[in-house]
Amino acid sequence: MFNSATVFDPSEGSSKRFPIPVVQELASQHLHSLPQRFIRSEKERPNDFSHHQMDIPIIDMGMFLSDSESCRQQELEKLDIACKQWGFFQAVNHGIPLSLMQGMKGIVKEFVQLPLEEKLKYEMKEIEGYGQTFVASDDQILDWTDTLFLTTLPPENRNMNFWPTKPADFRETVDQYAVEIQKLGKTILSLLSEKVELKTDRLINMCGKTGQTMRMNYYPPCPRPDLVLGLSPHSDASGLTLLLQDDETVGLHICKDGKWIPIQPIPGALVINIGDMIEVISNRIYKSIEHRVVTNRDRDRISIAMFYSPSGECEVGPAPELIDELHPCQYRTFIRKDYMRQYFSSKLDGKASIEFTKIK
Ligand code: OGA
Ligand code: NI
Repeated sequence: MFNSATVFDPSEGSSKRFPIPVVQELASQHLHSLPQRFIRSEKERPNDFSHHQMDIPIIDMGMFLSDSESCRQQELEKLDIACKQWGFFQAVNHGIPLSLMQGMKGIVKEFVQLPLEEKLKYEMKEIEGYGQTFVASDDQILDWTDTLFLTTLPPENRNMNFWPTKPADFRETVDQYAVEIQKLGKTILSLLSEKVELKTDRLINMCGKTGQTMRMNYYPPCPRPDLVLGLSPHSDASGLTLLLQDDETVGLHICKDGKWIPIQPIPGALVINIGDMIEVISNRIYKSIEHRVVTNRDRDRISIAMFYSPSGECEVGPAPELIDELHPCQYRTFIRKDYMRQYFSSKLDGKASIEFTKIK
């Protein structure tokens, strides 16, 4: 009943693996007390969120196809403010067929229900696969989740050894969804480029070629949601993240002005957030925001995060067009691959990775 967690070890130049429990198996045992490895320190426990009911902005993507230029401009203004002040929004009317989104949720649910030995055929190695990422030591507190992490685009970067063959429509569904998500990601970034008057495609192509990875998250019910986290506080290392979340179960919280705010599911919507790479390229016009996931006592939850990012060899840094005397350069330029090594070589820790690239 053990699974793998992997972390990149810079001293060895390769990944290290740690045995960790399969959370779904633990959850099925109806434990009276939780293993110590999941119990958070007092200050990390999610006991402070019930009072903050605010909603993140909702962007109607249909407006960008409108014949009325004023409708379009109004929505663009909303999008810009959402990305500046929240770093998060929910996109509706985004054009991705509901049937495809339901198909994605369906394949995750079916994969989760497979016998453990079938799932362990895809056990995590070198970051990809079924397990947990970001486990940097034997005694680190673990997240209450099982994850399947895959590279989805470009197709030649896929490692099919990690792509489940069950359910039978897994591969084809992910293939179709990945393409749709990439189109939507490009649309959003081209709108933001228009707004910041960045006439190049630097936001869209993120200083070079782009790729996409995917994390399918399964959060089993947890007997003590007050003591654990489904996912530790972090910002995403992506350019843009497009998340399909469970319609029924609330779990995602974002940190707004120092307070944790739950994101209420809107059926059919996607939750979209700015990742560290767009924060860097936009020289902090747009910011990546810390978020975390909490668990539920009686309900499980799934989510599917698609990360639209520069490919490994890209040199990423603030767009020169956005730097002047009033707006000094805030980040060092780095190679994307090195950023990912840093990101994958430690536990998830808020915005620690991007801090590392800041010019002080
Ligand atoms: C992630 C993430 C949120 C969720 O996978 O990076 O933040 O709701 N997921 O599962
Ligand atoms: Ni995230």
